[in-house]
Amino acid sequence: MKITINRSNLAKPAGDLLIVVATKEQVLSFKNKPSKNNNKTPVDFSCKEVVSTLGLYKDFELQEFEGKEGQTIHFSSKEIGIPHLVFIGWQSQKDLFSQIDAYRKFGSIIFSTAKKYGAKNVILSLDKLSLKNSSHLTAFIEGIELTNYSYDKYKSSEKGSKKNYSGIDNLILLTKETLQINLHNDVKAITDATLLARDLINLSPRDCTPSHLVKVAREVARDTKLAVRVYDKDDLAKMGANLLLSVAQGSDEPPYLINLNYKPKKPSSKIVALVGKGITFDSGGLSIKSGTGMEDMKMDMSGAAAVIAAMKAIAILKPSVEVRAYIPTTENMINGKATRPGDVIKGLSGKTVEILNTDAEGRLILADALHLAEKEGAKIIVDIATLTGAIVVALGSGCAGLFSNNDRLAQQLTTAADQSGEKIWRMPLVDEYKQYIKSRVADIKNIGNASKGGGSITAALFLNEFIDKAAWAHLDIAAVAFQDSDKYCNKAGGVGFGVRTLVKLVRSL
Ligand code: BES
Ligand code: ZN
Ligand code: ZN
Repeated sequence: MKITINRSNLAKPAGDLLIVVATKEQVLSFKNKPSKNNNKTPVDFSCKEVVSTLGLYKDFELQEFEGKEGQTIHFSSKEIGIPHLVFIGWQSQKDLFSQIDAYRKFGSIIFSTAKKYGAKNVILSLDKLSLKNSSHLTAFIEGIELTNYSYDKYKSSEKGSKKNYSGIDNLILLTKETLQINLHNDVKAITDATLLARDLINLSPRDCTPSHLVKVAREVARDTKLAVRVYDKDDLAKMGANLLLSVAQGSDEPPYLINLNYKPKKPSSKIVALVGKGITFDSGGLSIKSGTGMEDMKMDMSGAAAVIAAMKAIAILKPSVEVRAYIPTTENMINGKATRPGDVIKGLSGKTVEILNTDAEGRLILADALHLAEKEGAKIIVDIATLTGAIVVALGSGCAGLFSNNDRLAQQLTTAADQSGEKIWRMPLVDEYKQYIKSRVADIKNIGNASKGGGSITAALFLNEFIDKAAWAHLDIAAVAFQDSDKYCNKAGGVGFGVRTLVKLVRSL
């Protein structure tokens, strides 16, 4: 998509679709006023002018168009030489978060409208809507780019068919404002990365194996000149990453630990690690999940997808801090060698873990990865994982859980998430609950006490056991990584949650 700004008065802009922004106040003020004036052609394509030139107010009334946020009304507008004319309602919001979110939704509706009419050349008359603020412009572009996504890899009928709308080619913004339109490239790097994460999550688990994640990580490294190191099963055994290996024991697919590194041109002492849970399928292991509980478990690598994708954007955007990604990846399956509840395993850190539930596997593979990240020098560590069903209960399906041992890092993540429109909410690391992960036979056990609740907190406390001095934050994205229906810029399926927040965080450090 190419975005251009047109400040001059256009007598006849060329396009397939003209979208005009209308506020509630404007629509009210037109009541019985603008009348058809055929001698005039619109000059600046402001809402008022287009309405009066074409005499549209009666239709607004008939079709109950009030200019409410997101409301649209369509006309055929051959008279001004553009096949389709759509008015879209807009209202400015008060608080920062809903403001940014409103611009993203607006972008999303612009895309869906263009798609509806198959428009490739779209003229958008901004009128009362200002895109001067760079966060607003960023969110608006994100809304468009993120809505331009559909997953049809496995559909024999729709693939390559004409029905498939490929997106807006030219977006012409009619505005008197000077806009920082050159930020489009940076936004595109981040939205492309988000779509890459979605593709990985949506892939069938038969195709998205740990080896596939390795392949994709290598491709990303090659294309963007990141350093890549992949630890295979033998390397992991030599290192003593036995917690990761114990989860992999029940699978025929070999496990890996992927390490991608970005170094800024000017060396930085700030070393940030991003750690992503890469369970490419979670059957639960011997503590097997129910049929419905297993249905979506291809998404259990959403943390890994977010980290690989974020690294791609980071390599393009070149922040000033060093960023290292650690992605432990394996399946959680069952065979004769699978880990049994009751097994005790000593992981990379030297701590022994009693595994009482093989379905609490994410924390096991993350434990080894977190320890490695800190041992290799990371001072700030953020992990992202579809870790617990309990976070769905705690926060519902619209919000991820944030746990952190460091208030500053928690605040920085929250700010990054607010900008991204990815909702996160800080949860407490309740010290008293540490007793629930005490084991009678080992240093620690991998589940808390179900009857006491707080399952996301005990999971986070477990991870915390593998952090020494680093500032650490954990994002539990189990509830938000995958969704069953379309919601503005997020389509049903993998969301790519976390990519934007992680990239924004790293750029803000
Ligand atoms: N991958 C699941 C968590 C999950 C649940 C992700 C629902 C997405 C949607 C994780 O490995 C798991 O099974 N956790 C268990 C932990 C329990 C056994 C302590 C859970 O949440 O039930
Ligand atoms: Zn599990
Ligand atoms: Zn899992």
